[in-house]
Amino acid sequence: MKEYRDKVVAITGCASGIGMELVRQLAAKGAKFSLADIGDDRLAAFQQELEAQGVEAIATHVDVRDPEQMEAFAARTYDKFGRVDYCFSNAGISAVGNAWKMPLSDWHWLLDVNVMGPAHAIRAFIPRMIEQDSECCFIITASAAGFVTAWGGAGYSASKHAVIGLAEALEGDLQKAGAKVKSYVITPAYVQSNLHNSFDYRPEAEWDSKDPAYEDDDFNAAFGRSVKSTSADGGVGIPTQDAVQAILKGLDEDHFIIMTHPQYGPIIEARYHNLMTGVRPVYKG
Ligand SMILES: NC(=O)c1ccc[n+]([C@@H]2O[C@H](COP(=O)([O-])OP(=O)(O)OC[C@H]3O[C@@H](n4cnc5c(N)ncnc54)[C@H](O)[C@@H]3O)[C@@H](O)[C@H]2O)c1
Repeated sequence: MKEYRDKVVAITGCASGIGMELVRQLAAKGAKFSLADIGDDRLAAFQQELEAQGVEAIATHVDVRDPEQMEAFAARTYDKFGRVDYCFSNAGISAVGNAWKMPLSDWHWLLDVNVMGPAHAIRAFIPRMIEQDSECCFIITASAAGFVTAWGGAGYSASKHAVIGLAEALEGDLQKAGAKVKSYVITPAYVQSNLHNSFDYRPEAEWDSKDPAYEDDDFNAAFGRSVKSTSADGGVGIPTQDAVQAILKGLDEDHFIIMTHPQYGPIIEARYHNLMTGVRPVYKG
């Protein structure tokens, strides 16, 4: 079992969804928090909610795409608490679309948030976590889309495949360095959150909502599926509370890969078997 009482949790992307619920459940176990998100109003409201419950929490505006903001987040966290026991690199976004029609700016946005975000967190936090010389955990939220793929999900899948590899290679580097930090990777499947509304988090100047790519039938089909995947309103996702209970159980059991949907295990095994035996993927619907 992991201990959370008086432990310090740093977490990105915690003003919504899985990150917010992780904080709520860890707060109930007695942790303290250094919170980060790009959504300032939601973040401030969440910090106030926690403080009203007597939970110690500081909040920092961080766009995980910016290495300087990530460095400032780590510095502020260590100034305040002097340590981090659990660092969750959780912020992530979803953009969908056919692999050759998705706007280039969406490709960059996906890879900058979902891959460079964790890379920036590693660069800012891991040296400090090694230096503190105590057992601690660095946890990246990837996705089941890092193991399986779907039409209309090329960019998201590429980003989540990348961070599973990143987390695994990080574990190798940590072991080689003799560090007391362990790497973990969370691979949720469908969980109720605001992930289907990721475009709302995106600065308006960075994209063109009138791009014809967003009128395309393939885009609309993939977007409809993403709404169904994570919307709490009639979607197929499991409640966020259940997903986070599964995540904390996986962490307690020291699983390197932490799944929210164990039923994906055989699907992933079958996919790897097919890949290794040269079978071409077949997509339906
Ligand atoms: N919900 C699911 O079904 C599901 C499945 C697989 C993986 N995931 C992953 O879980 C993680 C959390 O997503 P969620 O489902 O809770 O979605 P969410 O949209 O509810 O929460 C994501 C949070 O990240 C923040 N964020 C977005 N861009 C940011 C940036 N550039 N810098 C800092 N913060 C930023 C948002 O403001 C938001 O608060 C993501 O990495 C996502 O890819 C979710």
